[in-house]
Amino acid sequence: MSQFDERKSAPIVRNLPGFYNDLDASLTHAWAMLARAAADRRAAFHTPVVATIDDDGAPSQRVMVLRAADPALRSLRVHTDLRSDKLRHVGRDARVSLNFYDAGAKLQLRVMGTATVHSGDEIARAAWTSSRPQGRLCYEQQEPPGSVIEKPLAELPVDRRFAESDDGLDNFAVLVVEVGAVEWLYLAIEGHRRARWNWLGTAWEGAWLAP
Ligand SMILES: Cc1cc2nc3c(=O)[nH]c(=O)nc-3n(C[C@H](O)[C@H](O)[C@H](O)COP(=O)(O)O)c2cc1C
Repeated sequence: MSQFDERKSAPIVRNLPGFYNDLDASLTHAWAMLARAAADRRAAFHTPVVATIDDDGAPSQRVMVLRAADPALRSLRVHTDLRSDKLRHVGRDARVSLNFYDAGAKLQLRVMGTATVHSGDEIARAAWTSSRPQGRLCYEQQEPPGSVIEKPLAELPVDRRFAESDDGLDNFAVLVVEVGAVEWLYLAIEGHRRARWNWLGTAWEGAWLAP
């Protein structure tokens, strides 16, 4: 094939997604991906990085499992240990930020919101009941997460049967994030698309941003 071969200079035709130049459709797509990811353990959005503000005002991040996403309520839900550092952080400053990245979908979402902790109430009990016995075991640990221990904790037998136990319920907490802003970055060779939506109290206000 010579360097003047026509096939070489033929433009690549790609089908861009319907939301590419559509602000409303982009936000709808973002929430649909979040809702789907909460139910799909293999989805990249299933394990966002969740950032809190620590006791010194410094950013603090960790990966968490997204348990639920509700576009109508503008809420996201994650589960954690009531004794964890992140819950102390949100007790002082409820502002949180979550970062979702799906390499296949070429999409990054930065979600900003305020967190509310639920423990021992209806929301926590419903989440506990819907979680798997295997997941509940983590909350039975006597040592608070992050505490210094003399040696690694005893190994759990890998062939154990996961009994339905409520022993960890007192340590179980649900973090509900009320979403106040969403920032979108869609990567495309035709040109990236970046947008931000702020919740104004009754509706989302969106704007395109220079990527
Ligand atoms: C894939 C993955 C999923 C995780 N999911 C959760 C989770 O849903 N809830 C949680 O509290 N910690 C989860 N963790 C552990 C946290 O990243 C973190 O180490 C732990 O919660 C302690 O954080 P903190 O000291 O900032 O409170 C997960 C870690 C990984 C790697």
